[in-house]
Amino acid sequence: MNSQSLFKQHFNYSAVSSSEAHGRVNLIGEHTDYNKGFVLPTLIEQKIEVSLSPRLDSKIVGISEEFGEKTVLSDSNTDGTWIDFVRGALYYMAKEGQLIKGLNIAVVSSIPTGSGLSSSAALEIAILRALCQMVGHELSSTKIAKIGQLIEHHFIGTFCGIMDQMSSSKSKFGQVLFLDCENLNTEIVPIFEDYTFIIIHSGSTRKLSEGLYNERKRETEIASKSLNISSLRHAEISDLNIIKDPKIFRRARHVITENVRVLKAVQFLKDNNAQAFGNLMNESHISMDKDYEISSPELNHIVKTAQSNGALGARLTGAGFGGCTVVLSSNTRRDDIIKKILEHCPKSYLVTNIGQNIAPSKNE
Ligand code: GLA
Repeated sequence: MNSQSLFKQHFNYSAVSSSEAHGRVNLIGEHTDYNKGFVLPTLIEQKIEVSLSPRLDSKIVGISEEFGEKTVLSDSNTDGTWIDFVRGALYYMAKEGQLIKGLNIAVVSSIPTGSGLSSSAALEIAILRALCQMVGHELSSTKIAKIGQLIEHHFIGTFCGIMDQMSSSKSKFGQVLFLDCENLNTEIVPIFEDYTFIIIHSGSTRKLSEGLYNERKRETEIASKSLNISSLRHAEISDLNIIKDPKIFRRARHVITENVRVLKAVQFLKDNNAQAFGNLMNESHISMDKDYEISSPELNHIVKTAQSNGALGARLTGAGFGGCTVVLSSNTRRDDIIKKILEHCPKSYLVTNIGQNIAPSKNE
């Protein structure tokens, strides 16, 4: 069921505004965004759809098959449910001069939550787009992304970077977005010919606000403070000698080496050099496992299985601590690699494939 039908079924009239936003998979460049570094995401076909209408009272009435049904007062405190995303969006719309008293809202999602595929950002962007459309207010895609990030920080409690929101708000299907998180400059890079990025879920999920994400962020802030720089974007490996705490040293080493890998990866993508790109993915995974310590036995098992069955590269994607892997394969080896992974990694499942010859969602 789409969000318009869900809205009509629940509220008995048609929504005045509908919008959607897609999830993303990050091909390389993990935990670099909040260190003002580089990332390389691309959209996945899974998305979140939102339909909504204003209310005359000050209630938010929400319905979602995936997230549940809920009615709250729009000025009530956050309660850890999905309605916090709506509360946040209304708060920032008011800051934009668009006071919206109450709202009926229906949400439909095909993005698995807690999987590193950016379902939160997609929800933020879809709600903001629908609200802007409802009140006839124009916001640039970058501004929408920045508001989405503020919702995440102040209404959800995850001090995330800007990658997910920029990706969901700015990207188009079949394109890879090279984003510089310091100045928000973007470059569109075409995806490989004859190769596929396979997204496999490990079967275990994580919750960002559980604190490990924010802990990693704090550790990298300690590192940049010790180096007397504004962010690790401006550090080089040779600078790290003055960091005495081995854990902080390793965290910083991941960020610095990952930034270098993204820059190389962009060039390999442009050169259509999938083999070299795959090697970087493998290096990135080792760095996330050993230095950043955000992998899990399930993610490592999928990565190893992919590598030993002919994948060019494999790595965890997103925040880590569970969620998904992204595997690079030639189109000819793809089906066999997927089969081997699903056979050997009991809880894993295929989320999607991304490549030039793979049709995007019907709605695009
Ligand atoms: C989450 C955050 C992003 C980014 C990734 C890790 O998806 O929302 O800002 O930090 O983790 O790369």
